[in-house]
Amino acid sequence: MTLDRILQSQGFGTRRYCGDLIGAGLVEVNGELCEDPRAQFEVDGLRLTVDGEAWVACTKAYLMLNKPAGYECSQRPRNHPSVYNLLPVPLRQREVQAVGRLDHDTTGLLLLTDDGQFIHAQTSPKRKVPKVYEVTTAEPVTPEQAEALRAGVQLDDEPAPIAAEACEITGEHSLRLTLLQGKYHQVKRMVVAAGNHVTALHRSAVGGLKLDPALPEGEWRWLTPEDLAALNSKE
Ligand code: URA
Repeated sequence: MTLDRILQSQGFGTRRYCGDLIGAGLVEVNGELCEDPRAQFEVDGLRLTVDGEAWVACTKAYLMLNKPAGYECSQRPRNHPSVYNLLPVPLRQREVQAVGRLDHDTTGLLLLTDDGQFIHAQTSPKRKVPKVYEVTTAEPVTPEQAEALRAGVQLDDEPAPIAAEACEITGEHSLRLTLLQGKYHQVKRMVVAAGNHVTALHRSAVGGLKLDPALPEGEWRWLTPEDLAALNSKE
């Protein structure tokens, strides 16, 4: 692909604007200045520096964000800033989307991509991708509550009780819940239905992919091929 198109595909602006950046000597490719917008390169893995910003090109973007509390997973947030504000401009320009949403007060692992098929596959109810939540509760957790969550609890708008795939008591006021669905406020509503109340919620894993413990809150990083394989391993 030509360099101007590559820059455009990475979210650096229109093709003409990218051509101007290249012509102005503001773009390096694999460590060398390139002033020809029509120069041809392979996209994936190309190391770019665009107006001082280092960037590794990729045909599709897959990333994890350590979502902090107080951010909405919406492009048009109502009451809090958007998680998209935590991403650099090129990723926002190429319209990466959250793979399912977390509530504004939920923290932890949020996946984002500009690959629509990937979003569809990961969020399809048929795929039953497990999501692991660390739940803090208002009242002490009882074995009966954990058993109710495992057996299935009735939510208002559901035809049948919904069961957690796994539920483990991890402390006096905490439990680890694995869900196969992604219904609206599902953890909070299930915990209420079991007779308790969520005071804090953190997603620690999706499929076999855990939130990177080295990733600070509010920061993102690219998913590696190993991460993508882990995601589908369901462990
Ligand atoms: N369940 C909830 O209640 N909230 C979330 O953010 C995710 C799952």
